[in-house]
Amino acid sequence: MRLTLKIWRQKNRKSKGEFVNYQLNNATPDMSFLEMLDLLNLELARKDEDTISFDHDCREGICGSCGLYINGRAHGPLRGVAACQLHMRSFKDGDTIVIEPWRAKAFPPIKDLVVDRTALDRIMQSGGFVSVKTGGAPDANAIPIPKVIADQAFEAAACIGCGACVAACKNASAMLFVSAKVSQLALLPQGHAERKDRVQKIIAQMDREGFGACSNTYACEAECPKQISVSHIARLNREFMLAQILP
Ligand code: SF4
Ligand code: FES
Repeated sequence: MRLTLKIWRQKNRKSKGEFVNYQLNNATPDMSFLEMLDLLNLELARKDEDTISFDHDCREGICGSCGLYINGRAHGPLRGVAACQLHMRSFKDGDTIVIEPWRAKAFPPIKDLVVDRTALDRIMQSGGFVSVKTGGAPDANAIPIPKVIADQAFEAAACIGCGACVAACKNASAMLFVSAKVSQLALLPQGHAERKDRVQKIIAQMDREGFGACSNTYACEAECPKQISVSHIARLNREFMLAQILP
């Protein structure tokens, strides 16, 4: 495959970035998108040029590290997959591919396609956990949980913290991420004891980090690689309101 790659290059947070065009003539349809970038970096390194920085770790859709805007879509053209699970067979020979970092005030740029997403970690540190010592793993059937509730909690727990929902939202809102984290604990008995405190702390931290309000456009759900439903945002709002009004 011969490709023209239009890639955002930026030395650091303070420098002005720009798109730089690269020609890659030996990509194959079976390569993953990140392997294609590896190949480009190999060519750049052989020419003693500065390689392109991009985030990645598991390369199997689990860790949430790989965040790329590809041809104007968070994680690329396929629904329900992270950029690392995208393959070059989703593109055609001769294509021009535009690759950009997440763009959001709360995600300041670090270098090229890498942005600082530690705002999401600080949200989790503010209350995204159950603060009891649980000891060893209990038997799975020790606390009976209706299947429908377990399924909803599992869907929320699938969030990998990639930040695509923020990047896709015109208000750079983190509501889908936050709602998934609040939902997975609010739905289960283990999370009930601290639910009032948790939702208030987590929303206060979200506001401190500079994320915007929900735009109600559902762009987050459309671009989420784990297809997390905006119905969790409705639960987040209910949890927050109840925490405000109940003694
Ligand atoms: S809700 Fe979806 S898009 Fe947002 S951080 Fe979680 S997995 Fe990524
Ligand atoms: S590299 Fe881990 S989700 Fe993509």
